[in-house]
Amino acid sequence: MARSSRTTTSAGRAPDEPSRLRRALGRWYRAKGRHDLPWRLTRDPYAVLVSEVMLQQTQVERVRARYEAWLQRWPTASSLAEAPAAEVIREWSGLGYNRRAVNLQRATREALERFGRIPLDEAKLASLPGVGPYTAAAVACFAGGRRTVALDTNVARVVARALLGQGRARPPYGREVREAAEAWLPARGARDHQLALMDLGATVCRASSPACEACPLARDCAWLAAGRPEANPAAPRAKAPPFESTARFARGRIVAMLAEGAPLPGDTIAARLPEEHRAACPEYLEALAGDGIAVLREGRWGLAEDG
Ligand code: ADE
Repeated sequence: MARSSRTTTSAGRAPDEPSRLRRALGRWYRAKGRHDLPWRLTRDPYAVLVSEVMLQQTQVERVRARYEAWLQRWPTASSLAEAPAAEVIREWSGLGYNRRAVNLQRATREALERFGRIPLDEAKLASLPGVGPYTAAAVACFAGGRRTVALDTNVARVVARALLGQGRARPPYGREVREAAEAWLPARGARDHQLALMDLGATVCRASSPACEACPLARDCAWLAAGRPEANPAAPRAKAPPFESTARFARGRIVAMLAEGAPLPGDTIAARLPEEHRAACPEYLEALAGDGIAVLREGRWGLAEDG
């Protein structure tokens, strides 16, 4: 049937489109979804929390091996809670944004103290240190099967395009995107529905060069119907500096030095950094101390310890 001849709602969509889109998405996910991702093979809230924290700023393929090593070392929430903080930071080393490791352990310790386990309730999860709204929803949904929207960048983009006809969705996602995502959730099977949206966003409905010809939603996609407005940003963004010039790179190098073992004086740490970062070394160390990653003891810097 031609798109223009359908009966439409006040929002301009045929009343049966969301459920037809859902069914098409479900079929696609069963055939093409990334079912082998190890964190999808478990419903253990602790394991899912670990994976979601790792995946926050790190790519799926890099996380895969590190996630499995982590769970071998600390298979339960209580084993992580009891581990020395310095060991936790060491194990995280190389994944970047080391504060995530500190917060993951703090969240685990606090969850055990307050609830006796990692909760599945979204509000309880969101009350834990470093657990933001996305992570809380993701654990509630992926581990607990709760019917709640876990709006990550891929999910938001697919929703914005397919349902709202908007090319891009950047955080913080607007109410419109959230409401559309909520309305699209199936009565049952919210977990698979959202994993499907995630996979579609990551592999087909990509931010740039989307593969609409391979998309199961193409038939009803509002964005495609509108001629894919805003597919490419109008103004090219300023070129990012090389990674080696960033404070994140320098902080990562410092954490790697501290993880090697013996505590070091600040001057020694600065001298081992590339020239361009030496002057800022005291600031980096203070920032790492503020994040609970590094600590100054008797004039030498080491990894944070408990207590
Ligand atoms: N599966 C569950 N959560 C995920 C995430 N954040 N990224 C990729 N795959 C996932």
